[in-house]
Amino acid sequence: MYNLVIFASGNGSTLQSIIDNISNHKLEAKIDLVISDNKDAYAIERAKKNNIDTYIIKNKKFSQRDLELSEVLSKYKIDLIVLAGYLKKIGPKLIEKYTIINTHPSLLPKFGGKGMHGMHVHEAVFKAKEKFTGPTIHFVNQEYDSGSVISQTKIEVLPIDTAEDISDKVQAIEKIQLNQILNKFVNHEI
Ligand code: GAR
Repeated sequence: MYNLVIFASGNGSTLQSIIDNISNHKLEAKIDLVISDNKDAYAIERAKKNNIDTYIIKNKKFSQRDLELSEVLSKYKIDLIVLAGYLKKIGPKLIEKYTIINTHPSLLPKFGGKGMHGMHVHEAVFKAKEKFTGPTIHFVNQEYDSGSVISQTKIEVLPIDTAEDISDKVQAIEKIQLNQILNKFVNHEI
């Protein structure tokens, strides 16, 4: 079995799409653990409803968090870590030991970096009057949103689109794209 650990800080609709794909046998994998820095994240509720182990990060300091997470994760056999709306930086211990990917809701390197997440990204795309946007899936390194790109989907931003419209469009495509990429990992095509 291909074992996943998912990190999520918020709503967890991306996590839900992975859970659904696994339930519908579209993805032959298992989520062993969902980790969050936010005890109130709805992602944690979603995990619990699906009998998936959860873990809430205790340490606020970067280096301590890295150590804490490496101890927690050492109890699991992990093939891939997926950041699905996780907002904290990943530390060197985890980067050294695991393959980690992130999904980001813009065409990186545009609209990436610290503070650029979720609606902030879509609002920035809207304000900049971008003609195109779309999700990027990339490997995680020690800098925010700067690891090598695995996949991007370019979608058109229409003049009538609001930031919310942009968010809806990107999130819909993002879930399909991420699950396709996860299938490739499971099949050892990446
Ligand atoms: C996703 O669109 C993801 O790309 C974004 O947060 C959303 C999570 O939604 N991640 C980032 O912006 C990371 N920089 P969810 O909580 O409903 O899965």
